[in-house]
Amino acid sequence: MQDVFTPTSLLVTGGAGFIGSNFINHFMAGNPDCRVINLDLLTYAGNLKNLTAVEGNANYRFVKGDICDADLVARLLAEEKVDAVAHFAAESHVDRSITGPDIFVRTNVLGTQTLLEASRQHAEQLADFRFLQVSTDEVYGSLGPEGYFTEETPLAPNSPYSASKAGADLLVRAYFETFGLPTLNTRCSNNYGPYHFPEKLIPLMIHNILKKRSLPVYGDGLNVRDWLHVKDHSAAIERVLKQGKPGEIFNVGGNNEWKNIDIVKLVCDLMDERLGRAAGESRELITFVKDRKGHDRRYAIDASKLKRELSWEPSYTFERGIAETIDWYLANQGWVEEVVSGAYREYYEMQYGATA
Ligand code: NAD
Ligand code: TYD
Repeated sequence: MQDVFTPTSLLVTGGAGFIGSNFINHFMAGNPDCRVINLDLLTYAGNLKNLTAVEGNANYRFVKGDICDADLVARLLAEEKVDAVAHFAAESHVDRSITGPDIFVRTNVLGTQTLLEASRQHAEQLADFRFLQVSTDEVYGSLGPEGYFTEETPLAPNSPYSASKAGADLLVRAYFETFGLPTLNTRCSNNYGPYHFPEKLIPLMIHNILKKRSLPVYGDGLNVRDWLHVKDHSAAIERVLKQGKPGEIFNVGGNNEWKNIDIVKLVCDLMDERLGRAAGESRELITFVKDRKGHDRRYAIDASKLKRELSWEPSYTFERGIAETIDWYLANQGWVEEVVSGAYREYYEMQYGATA
């Protein structure tokens, strides 16, 4: 399928975070003529070190700022003649949304509304425009042992995080239906890969194994997540931005379901091999802890629409992706040490009672 839309000036929000930075690195490598403006507040989750590959690129601009700042957003859209927005900025960690939901509503709902309203006004003067909302399968709630989320699955979010993302998705829908703003909405399963903040399951386990700290597995460890490499997600977002029909929703996922306990054991074994530890040594660190409140049991994505309509398919096998990810963390301990210092340290100590 031919590209139906080619952005010339793309505003990326949250581009210093895990997925946003992977997306910018991916997109700028393949689209050298497109200008990319990265608007990021640099919360605890944002790190400009993720973007050293594009730093010197004349087509790249970083702006430290808040997506809730309507004047700033309007000014950037006008000044940079933006014709597409890829909206990643969010508070993204479910556990934090349980201990402090307010910021999730502010950033994820009000921030999205601010961007939509500024985009609506700005797009009125343009021949073509796209607003792509990067969302999550968590808006669909939780599955039993069978079945998959499709784009028609009703929204039934259970955590303050997923509720705030669902609220944002509904505003995106409303701006398409009411104002005709050309929106797109992707809903992806759990991502893994480089630059993943070590408060999330996979990088936290890698970090704790390395430090020989306990590996907290919530509840019975039998909750299921569907894992996709962040580079495959980035490619999917690019495809949807260029070829997706405005108003449409696309699920993104790679049919890669894992019980948490199995993924933790796999990471333990791969780490033991790399660290020259005895087989099974790191598994000894596994500790079952109190379950997360409202813990969704299973996520599983049906991404057949994206494959059928836009010919997207993941390129990573999980075997390759997880091995490369572990190797990346081991080779980038400086990055890890930097992000776990500062604001994160306090959170880590509160959660795990140890120094990050
Ligand atoms: P992240 O927490 O790693 O990064 C979020 C980024 O947003 C950070 O750089 C942060 O500084 C920035 N930010 C936060 N508040 C801001 C504000 N008010 N103004 C400007 N910037 C702000 O998150 P992530 O894991 O990269 O997720 C990115 C997006 O993808 C989110 O919208 C998330 O809901 C969605 N998503 C994530 C996953 C996943 O597995 N991580 C899966 C599907 C969808
Ligand atoms: P997480 O990486 O926080 O992503 P999400 O909650 O958005 O799916 O968690 C993935 C799964 O791992 C989830 O079922 C919760 C579980 N989990 C643990 O068992 N221990 C942990 O320390 C963390 C952070 C998560």
